[in-house]
Amino acid sequence: MPRDIYPVPADFAVNTRVNREQYQALYKQSLDDPDGFWAGVAERLEWMKTPTKIKNTSFDLADFRIRWYEDGELNVSVNCLDRHLESRGDKTALIFEPDSPDTPAERISYRELHRRVCKLANALRALGIGKGDRVTIYLPMIPEAAIAMLACARIGAVHMVVFGGFAANSIADRVSDSGSKLIITADEGLRGGRKVKLKVNVDAALKLPGTNTVETVLVVRHTGAAVDMQMPRDRWYDAVVDGQPEACEPERMNAEDPLFILYTSGSTGKPKGVLHTTGGYLVYVSYTHETIFDLREDDVYWCTADVGWVTGHSYIVYGPLANGATSLIFEGVPNYPDMSRFWQVVDKHEVTTFYTAPTAIRALMREGEGPVKATSRKSLRLLGSVGEPINPEAWRWYHDVVGEGRCPIVDTWWQTENGGILISPLPGATDLKPGCATNPFFGVKPAIVDTNGNFIEGEGSGNLVITDSWPSQSRSIYGDHQRFIDTYFKTYPGTYFTGDGCRRDADGDYWITGRVDDVINVSGHRIGTAEVESALVSHDKVAEAAVVGFPHDLKGQGIYVYVTLIAGEVASDELRVELIRHVRAEIGPIASIDHLQWAPGLPKTRSGKIMRRILRKIAENAPDQLGDTSTLADPSVVDSLVKERYIPE
Ligand code: WT7
Repeated sequence: MPRDIYPVPADFAVNTRVNREQYQALYKQSLDDPDGFWAGVAERLEWMKTPTKIKNTSFDLADFRIRWYEDGELNVSVNCLDRHLESRGDKTALIFEPDSPDTPAERISYRELHRRVCKLANALRALGIGKGDRVTIYLPMIPEAAIAMLACARIGAVHMVVFGGFAANSIADRVSDSGSKLIITADEGLRGGRKVKLKVNVDAALKLPGTNTVETVLVVRHTGAAVDMQMPRDRWYDAVVDGQPEACEPERMNAEDPLFILYTSGSTGKPKGVLHTTGGYLVYVSYTHETIFDLREDDVYWCTADVGWVTGHSYIVYGPLANGATSLIFEGVPNYPDMSRFWQVVDKHEVTTFYTAPTAIRALMREGEGPVKATSRKSLRLLGSVGEPINPEAWRWYHDVVGEGRCPIVDTWWQTENGGILISPLPGATDLKPGCATNPFFGVKPAIVDTNGNFIEGEGSGNLVITDSWPSQSRSIYGDHQRFIDTYFKTYPGTYFTGDGCRRDADGDYWITGRVDDVINVSGHRIGTAEVESALVSHDKVAEAAVVGFPHDLKGQGIYVYVTLIAGEVASDELRVELIRHVRAEIGPIASIDHLQWAPGLPKTRSGKIMRRILRKIAENAPDQLGDTSTLADPSVVDSLVKERYIPE
């Protein structure tokens, strides 16, 4: 491993939120005295009742509990809006950059955002939504997405955002599991000039079983397309919001009251409704946002994620707005109308802090330096990466070409279940290594274990666990607390198991190596192999399917599927296309199969368990690394799969 180190730039080392000495001292303090440390951090928020009990947590299964600030009371929307009105009322809270550069951008001040949130919150109350009710949000990346989240928070409703790339079935599963009473959607979304038929998808979802908890669908007029309105269920958003009063009494929420549910894929079964609560979540996301992005008052901060993912929740909406920052919401895609779009937006709005995913960097890198060099980017001072391991070549290109060698990169590792960033450099404190997430944030205790659960000290590799609680940790899986315990706290007792592999180098820095379970990370999005398998076998010609990830130049990982047809069905290219289309229709465009291989048989143990290890190696085009195949019921199936494997050009 070459010593490839990028030291803290001189200006960051002095003029920063946290320098190297402060990082070490604060990290130590956060572990030595978590109560004192997190009581201090909590003062950054406005509490209706100041918490006196700070940390009350145990990962011990006999005495399991995760409670932070449990006697505190606050309202998230008050912290993100009302609190800033006096000092920052006219400051821009949100910049909205539409899909097309020809559509004017919108700047929404804190005062205006407060007004719009209060009006929607009043409308929701008028429609019978109150504390604890679940509300589904299925919107494009438009200001209403943030407004809807904040309006729910204001009245204590629990929001559940569904990414616009999910199809009717996925919406229905989530609506039904969460028992949502109301859905906020739009006529259509726009992405790269293409229309996304959101209302049509909602209509189809609500025809599916289990969704009859939904009483109201609010429809934002976005593209102005004609949509079916089913009265009295469907209501135009503007019609119910326009006449509402501009003030709205915020609900008093306990710190441990739910704030939102967000579904994410696991290694087995249906997606899990990850539940996040109020106090600890907001403390942690605002503090990490300020510290890791070295926030300054005049920053223009842009995270390119979608609010349908946790990154959008924590680092487009809640963290930045709790900090009174200016946060940019971008509706479009990096390559529309051309490959310079990201950098044109940076120049147009003088973005200082830019946070994106490695998959976007790799796609842009492929187009060469031209589209980047065509723009100035002189406003940029800090770059961030999230969602998957960033390969060193992409890191260097991001650093040298996009940031012109001037901007540190914070490679932030975390997960939906974590609520906020757990491992990341601090730009004023950490020397950077391309591809390395480096150090734990304050209060975070990472450890590496081998498959027997023994802790690995010093240099070494294994599975990443976290040995103590942090404030923004998920509290449960909605409706299935036992699954929460089983999934995260049973594998290595006494710890939270991340599902990621990890290496600690000689300097003590952490390198995340990717998932070690049956979760595939496609372009920074988690997809469970089990979900794709069940979508495949729901097709009447499919007898059996096995799904694995394989290395993909742009997406990080691609989806590789093995399909066994029902006896008598004949494999054909038409059927392959049909099955790929079927999975996209079942789950959504985010589940796009990259390679489908016909499998006359699948490698199984004598007890009938599919040996994915072997399928993964075949998909990786590494047939010489299959390992021991002697325990297979029929070792000959492997030979035919190897022979027919997909070999990338
Ligand atoms: C998985 C979590 C919350 C971030 C958005 C994705 C991978 C995330 C990094 C990183 C290496 C990363 C992990 C993790 N991941 N960030 N900086 N370096 N891997 O959230 O959908 O819950 O996925 O994304 O494998 O387990 P998510």
